[in-house]
Amino acid sequence: MKTSAVLCAAFGLISTAFGARDAVPWERIDKNDSLLLILDLQVGLYQLARDWDPTLYYQNILAHAAIGKLFDLPVIMSTSAQQGPNGPLPKDVLDMYPTAPLIRRQGEVDAWDNVEFKAAVKAANKSQIIVGGITTDVCTTFLALSLRAEGYSVFANVEASGTTTPFIRDVSNSRMQAAGVQLVSTFAIVCDLMRDWRNTPGSPEVLPYLNRYFPVYGQLAQAHGGAIENGTLIPGEAELLPLDNAAA
Ligand SMILES: *[C@@H]1O[C@H](CO)[C@@H](O)[C@H](O)[C@H]1NC(C)=O
Ligand SMILES: *[C@@H]1O[C@H](CO)[C@@H](O)[C@H](O)[C@H]1NC(C)=O
Ligand SMILES: *[C@@H]1O[C@H](CO)[C@@H](O)[C@H](O)[C@H]1NC(C)=O
Repeated sequence: MKTSAVLCAAFGLISTAFGARDAVPWERIDKNDSLLLILDLQVGLYQLARDWDPTLYYQNILAHAAIGKLFDLPVIMSTSAQQGPNGPLPKDVLDMYPTAPLIRRQGEVDAWDNVEFKAAVKAANKSQIIVGGITTDVCTTFLALSLRAEGYSVFANVEASGTTTPFIRDVSNSRMQAAGVQLVSTFAIVCDLMRDWRNTPGSPEVLPYLNRYFPVYGQLAQAHGGAIENGTLIPGEAELLPLDNAAA
């Protein structure tokens, strides 16, 4: 009795200490409860995304947008003053979602200040919001902080947002993180939504996505597939393999 009381007290202290450090609890993205936002990834604003190689960044935009198709998530698109220099969303993105809501904000910088956008997010009835936008410091951060203030869980896809300099990106990400926004990569989002390669969507659906948008994994799968289909060990290779495999 005494021992377990002491242990419980000790455990309480440990969990309090841990809780203090971990102010934002770990939370998994659930495909049943998430909404994908394509925020201000406009052809004009794209010119401001100078913290990325531009060719890579365009692929990142498409990869972010395609998460919605892969997991059949509700998608809301929004643009800021697209009649002006910011321009429309890229055709490649619009073609993915011909029927998703596209809220063309006439002036509001923070999308949350737009009543139509706010209503669309509320109507989606999801608690987890995945977002990427241009610019990281303004469009993404303002909305992410607004959503946090409203009690939403926010997953900022760090690969989908772009801004003028790495310094501005870093302070913006810090600002979001301090407000409990989860900073995540595209691959992390996809793997969290999938959870298990045996799920649906699982490897049959996710591998083609990765082959297109995350070629390090796509090429890995191609190399493995090629080796299984038509490969043979070259001299010296067998010795590199773990014993179990070499024996099999
Ligand atoms: C999502 O919904 C399905 C069907 O209702 C359920 O089987 C699954 O456990 C839910 N959560 C996740 C993370 O898939
Ligand atoms: C919103 O989602 C919750 C939790 O999934 C559900 O219980 C509720 O019925 C939904 N409300 C509407 C209006 O769809
Ligand atoms: C399989 O390997 C053989 C011999 O190395 C080669 O001639 C053939 O083109 C390969 N086939 C494929 C589909 O790679």
